[in-house]
Amino acid sequence: MLFRASSVIAAAASFSSVLAFQPGADYGLSPTSNMYNCSGSFSTSNVTVPNSADTLPQIEPLSDAGWERWDFFMHGTFPIILRWSQGDPSQCDAKPVVGNIDVVILNINGTDVRTSVVGPLTYKNGDVKVISIGDNTIQWDAAAQWYNVTLCVDGYSLVLNTYQAMVDTFHPNVGRYNGRLSSVGDPAVFGSVPIPRGHSSGYLATPDQQNITLDGLTMLKHTFSGNAIPPYINGYSAAVAWGYSKSFYDTHIFFQIDEANGTVHEAAYLGRAIPVPGSTDIFQTTSVTYAVTDDTALYHLSENGNMINVTLPGCSVTNNISYAFNMTTGSVLGEFTDLGGGKTTYYTLNGTTVAPFGGSAVNGIVSGVYEVYRVPEAK
Ligand SMILES: *[C@@H]1O[C@H](CO)[C@@H](O)[C@H](O)[C@H]1NC(C)=O
Ligand SMILES: *[C@@H]1O[C@H](CO)[C@@H](O)[C@H](O)[C@H]1NC(C)=O
Ligand SMILES: *[C@@H]1O[C@H](CO)[C@@H](O)[C@H](O)[C@H]1NC(C)=O
Ligand SMILES: *[C@@H]1O[C@H](CO)[C@@H](O)[C@H](O)[C@H]1NC(C)=O
Ligand SMILES: *[C@@H]1O[C@H](CO)[C@@H](O)[C@H](O)[C@H]1NC(C)=O
Ligand SMILES: *[C@@H]1O[C@H](CO)[C@@H](O)[C@H](O)[C@H]1NC(C)=O
Ligand SMILES: *[C@@H]1O[C@H](CO)[C@@H](O)[C@H](O)[C@H]1NC(C)=O
Ligand SMILES: *[C@@H]1O[C@H](CO)[C@@H](O)[C@H](O)[C@H]1NC(C)=O
Ligand SMILES: *[C@@H]1O[C@H](CO)[C@@H](O)[C@H](O)[C@H]1NC(C)=O
Ligand SMILES: *[C@@H]1O[C@H](CO)[C@@H](O)[C@H](O)[C@H]1NC(C)=O
Repeated sequence: MLFRASSVIAAAASFSSVLAFQPGADYGLSPTSNMYNCSGSFSTSNVTVPNSADTLPQIEPLSDAGWERWDFFMHGTFPIILRWSQGDPSQCDAKPVVGNIDVVILNINGTDVRTSVVGPLTYKNGDVKVISIGDNTIQWDAAAQWYNVTLCVDGYSLVLNTYQAMVDTFHPNVGRYNGRLSSVGDPAVFGSVPIPRGHSSGYLATPDQQNITLDGLTMLKHTFSGNAIPPYINGYSAAVAWGYSKSFYDTHIFFQIDEANGTVHEAAYLGRAIPVPGSTDIFQTTSVTYAVTDDTALYHLSENGNMINVTLPGCSVTNNISYAFNMTTGSVLGEFTDLGGGKTTYYTLNGTTVAPFGGSAVNGIVSGVYEVYRVPEAK
C-alpha cells in the first residue's frame, strides 16, 4: 500500500499537469512488469484488476488541453463503430469540453448509417459510472462486468448491452508505466482496453419502424493524452482478432506505436474463453496467457501489404505448443479525419489461427478489426 501511494505521487509529478487521473485509476503506476508471460494460465483476473475507474474520463473536460477517446467496435449482426471523444488528437487548441460521438452502422438491409453527435461530454462517478453526450450514454458497473450503450441519432435508437466475458482489462506499459503507450512521459499517451472480449446484445430501432435484434462481439479501447498527439509520434495501429474453433474462443489484441525516431512499441494480449458445451456465448472458464509490452522474445508481429502474421511461443502450460495468427486486412469499415487532419481508418480483419488446446495444435478461424491512426501530413 505504501509502495502504491508513493509511486502514484512519483508518477504524477513527472506527467503533464492537465492530466487528472481519476481516484482509483491505475494509469501511470510504476514500475510494473509484464502482466502475463505464459508463466501460468491465470483465471482472469488477479493481476490486471478489472478497474472500472480506469474507463472514466482521465482528462478533466474543463481543462484547456488534451483529448480522450473511447472506441467501441462490434462485429456481429452489423459492423458497428462508436467513437466517443472529447477534444481532438491532432489539434492542440481543441478544448476537451467539446464532445463528439462518431457513429457507423453498416448494411442495415442495405443502408449505412454514418453520422455524428456533438455536444459537451459529462460524466458521473457513482456505483454506476456514466459518460454522456446529451441523452447518449455509456454506463458500467463498479465490477466492470456490464458496459451498456444507449444512443439516439438520425431517427435510429440503439440499445447495446455488453457483458465482458474476460472480466479483465489490458494495459500496455511502455517503460514499465501502467497504461502508457509512449516512451516519452510528458506529454504521455495512455491507453487501455476495458473490454477485450465482450458479448453484446440489444436492438436497433430504425426510422421506418423496424426493430432489429442485435448480437455480436465487442471490444472497447480507451486512449488519451494531456496534449494533442505529441510530435514524437507518427501514428499507431491497434487490432482485435477473435479466433475460434469448436473448443475455444481466443482474443488477441495488439497495439503498435510508431515513434518519429523509428522506435516501435508493441503490446499484446492473448486470452481464452472456453464455452459451455453446445453454447457460443456462455463461458465456463476464461483465462489469460499473455499481456506483454516491448518483449520481442514473447511477441512477434510481421506485416507485409495487407497481411499481418503473429506468433506467440508456447511454454510448459501449453505443452510447448505456440500460437499463430495469419491475418488479412480487408475492406474499410470507416474513416475519420480529426479537426487537425489526423486520420483514423478501420479495416475488417480475417484469417486463420493455430493454437494449443488439450495438448495438440488446433486450427481455428479469425475475425476482427484493424485500426490505423496517422498524424496530419504537415506537422
Ligand atoms: C513472468 O511472470 C512471472 C510472474 O509474474 C515473473 O516472476 C517473471 O519474472 C516474468 N518473466 C518475465 C521474463 O517477464
Ligand atoms: C494469480 O493466481 C495464480 C493461481 O491462480 C497464482 O499462482 C499467482 O501467484 C497469482 N498472481 C498474483 C499476482 O497474485
Ligand atoms: C431487415 O433485416 C432484418 C434482420 O436481418 C429482417 O428481420 C427484416 O425483415 C429486414 N427488413 C426489410 C425491410 O428487409
Ligand atoms: C446492463 O444491462 C444488463 C442487461 O440488461 C443489466 O443486467 C445490467 O444491470 C445493466 N448494467 C448497467 C450498469 O447498466
Ligand atoms: C527514440 O526515442 C525514445 C524516447 O526518447 C528513446 O527511448 C529511444 O531510444 C529512441 N530511439 C532511437 C532509435 O533513437
Ligand atoms: C425493440 O424490441 C425490444 C425487444 O427486443 C424492446 O425491448 C424495445 O422496446 C423495442 N424498441 C422499439 C423502439 O420498438
Ligand atoms: C504470413 O504467412 C503467410 C503464409 O500463411 C505468408 O505467405 C506471408 O508471407 C506471411 N506474411 C508476413 C507478413 O509474414
Ligand atoms: C517444453 O520445453 C522444455 C524446454 O525445452 C522442456 O524441458 C519440456 O520437457 C517441454 N515440455 C513438453 C511437454 O514438451
Ligand atoms: C479473408 O477473407 C477474404 C474474402 O472474404 C479471403 O479472400 C481471404 O483469403 C481471407 N483471408 C484469410 C487469411 O483467410
Ligand atoms: C501461417 O503461415 C505460416 C507460414 O507459411 C505457416 O507455417 C502457419 O501454419 C500459418 N498459420 C496459420 C494459423 O495459418
